[in-house]
Amino acid sequence: MNVLVTGGAGFIGSNFVYHMLNKYPDYKIICVDCLTYAGNLSTLEEALKNPNFKFYKTDICDREAIYKIYEDEKPDVVVNFAAESHVDRSIENPEIFLKTNILGTQVMMDAARKFGNIRYHQVSTDEVYGDLPLDRPDLFFTETTPIHTSSPYSSSKAGADLLVMAYYRTYGLPVTISRCSNNYGPYHFPEKLIPLMIANALNDKPLPVYGEGLNVRDWLYVEDHCKAIDLIIHKGKIGEVYNVGGHNEMANIDIVKLICKKLNKPESLITHVTDRKGHDMRYAIDPTKIHNELGWLPETKFADGIDKTIEWYLNNKTWWETIISGEYMNYYEKMYGNR
Ligand code: NAD
Ligand code: DAU
Repeated sequence: MNVLVTGGAGFIGSNFVYHMLNKYPDYKIICVDCLTYAGNLSTLEEALKNPNFKFYKTDICDREAIYKIYEDEKPDVVVNFAAESHVDRSIENPEIFLKTNILGTQVMMDAARKFGNIRYHQVSTDEVYGDLPLDRPDLFFTETTPIHTSSPYSSSKAGADLLVMAYYRTYGLPVTISRCSNNYGPYHFPEKLIPLMIANALNDKPLPVYGEGLNVRDWLYVEDHCKAIDLIIHKGKIGEVYNVGGHNEMANIDIVKLICKKLNKPESLITHVTDRKGHDMRYAIDPTKIHNELGWLPETKFADGIDKTIEWYLNNKTWWETIISGEYMNYYEKMYGNR
């Protein structure tokens, strides 16, 4: 089977590439990634040595180039991870989010239609459901929860999801969508909460917690997300949405305190800074459908996953130190300098 993976040089996409190469030695994995600030070819160093792996440095919005890749590589399945993924950046500059996340998705699906109505999977997010109140722990996002977005990022992901379902209904494109909660693990770009706090703590830098830090996220180890997508592309029902999450809700402040403890750093590094605009309060996924229909269950407990993640950042300092010493420094100053 030929699997075309977009965004494979990013956090979840690269973990998915390795998951697929290891689990299916007879599959060919074709990766398309234009290497934005979030894409890193060194992440794919091992994959590039594998004869079953092929990499294209291509923008998913580049229709001509994408059509050529479909024509040459003849994918049986397409998994679209490529996206602008950081909420804070979307608040600063929404346009690229609309372009990549919506128009890029359109190009990928047009190509899938043109070259044989190819099986298409869209990697979406729980953020399309908006947020839940802290005082209603009984509420969870299900697949029928209405779309109700807060940020330009989540709106662009929701726009893409609507387009995917429109291509299913209008053209009969064989699609599925997964909506996952917050991932953590190896190769997570250090602009996001967990890797940012690990990197700052290791450098004895302030740990910038937005507002009071009471916002809740539902954390899932990245490998479990990859396994869920693997199941969906092999056994998922066409035209369906699957929520993915492991019932692991934690307040940001508790995550940051835990990281301090694990790294033996003082909590006095924690600095409360101005809150994110439109900050979603709580995300919480109900994964009943993917469990009942496809037998998926998360395998990594948070206590183990966070240890593995911290160990990875300790053992792979060159990977993240290279990132945070480059253009990232300007980003950091702009986002956190006067916060
Ligand atoms: P990421 O920012 O780490 O990686 C995104 C990758 O896409 C990068 O390699 C980047 O170079 C590439 N890319 C961006 N624009 C592109 C374009 N126009 N053409 C080709 N490649 C392009 O993101 P991530 O955290 O790995 O997220 C991957 C997907 O999963 C996204 O669609 C995101 O919305 C979704 N998602 C993420 C999470 C999470 O917790 N990180 C949770 C649920 C869903
Ligand atoms: O829920 C899935 C989503 O999770 C994905 O769709 C997004 O692509 C992914 O980036 C993530 O979005 P969040 O906004 O939840 O993740 P982030 O790591 O940016 O922030 C997590 C929480 O931590 C959020 O409440 C904001 C807070 N935060 C974040 C940063 C970067 C801080 O308090 N301080 C920080 O410096």
